[in-house]
Amino acid sequence: MSKEANHTIYEPERTPWGQVFLLVVIVGFVFITATACAPRMIEVDGHRVFNPEYLWYLESEDRDRWQKPGQVIESLELSEGDVIADIGAGGGYFTERFSKRVGKGGHVYAVDVQDIMITLLKNRVNREKLDNVTVIKGRFETPMLPSKSVDTAFFSSVYKEISERIEYMKEVRKSLKREGRVAILEFYKNGIFPGPEYGDRMYQSQVIEELEKAGFLLIQSFDFLPQEYFLVFGIKEDRTVRGPKIHRKSQLLE
Ligand SMILES: C[S@@+](CC[C@H](N)C(=O)[O-])C[C@H]1O[C@@H](n2cnc3c(N)ncnc32)[C@H](O)[C@@H]1O
Repeated sequence: MSKEANHTIYEPERTPWGQVFLLVVIVGFVFITATACAPRMIEVDGHRVFNPEYLWYLESEDRDRWQKPGQVIESLELSEGDVIADIGAGGGYFTERFSKRVGKGGHVYAVDVQDIMITLLKNRVNREKLDNVTVIKGRFETPMLPSKSVDTAFFSSVYKEISERIEYMKEVRKSLKREGRVAILEFYKNGIFPGPEYGDRMYQSQVIEELEKAGFLLIQSFDFLPQEYFLVFGIKEDRTVRGPKIHRKSQLLE
C-alpha cells in the first residue's frame, strides 16, 4: 500500500514470475551440470565400478523399452524351482523379476560388492516381500556363492566391471550345479547411447574368448536387444554340442 497525493492506492500482491522462472532455470542448470559431471564409474577398493548416482537410470521406466526384461527372462527358459544368481544385482531390477519367475520353490542370490547396493537390495527384498531372495555381499574376486548351488548365473551390465574376469568366472563355475549356465548381457562396443561410455564397453568376441578360458562354452546367443548382446554359456565338460558358431570376429555384431 502506498500513499500518493492524499490518495490511497492498493497494489495487489504480484507473483514475481520472472524471478521464479530464473530460479527454475538456475536449479535445472545446476542439476543437469551436476549429473552430467558425475563420473559413470567410480573407484571402490581399487576397482572401477558403476557409480550408484546413476542408479535412477537403471530403475527408470524407460529401461523396460530397451531392456525387454520379460523377453530376456523368457529366453532363459527358467523353471519354477530354479536357483538364479543375479551377480552385480545393483538396485535389483532383475532380482525382483527372477524372484517372481522362480516362485516359492526357487531361489535367487542377489550379489553385489557395493554397500549401497546391498542396502538397496535388502530394502527392495523387504518392501516387495521377496522371500526367496538372499542378498550376498560379494568380494571383487569371488561372488561368495555356495558351491554347486546355482542353475543360472546372470550378469547384466556387470561383466566388464570385473577386474580379474577369467579367475572370477572360474569361481562362478564352482558355484554352478551340473548343467549350470552363465548368461551375460553387455552393451555393444560400437552400439548407441544410452549406455556406458565406449571405453567401458567390451567386444563380445573378447567375452566369448575369456569365458572359454574359464572353462565355458557358448551355447546360445540372442540378438533381440537393440543395445546389448546376450550370450549364454554352459560348462565345457557338461556340453558336447557347441552352440552358435560365431567364434570369428567378422561374424559378430560387436
Ligand atoms: C551397471 S550396474 C548393473 C546392475 C544390475 N545388474 C542391472 O542390470 O540393473 C553394475 C553393478 O555391478 C556391481 N559389480 C561390479 N563389480 C562387481 C563384482 N566383482 N562382483 C559383484 N558385483 C559387481 C556394481 O557394484 C554395480 O552394482
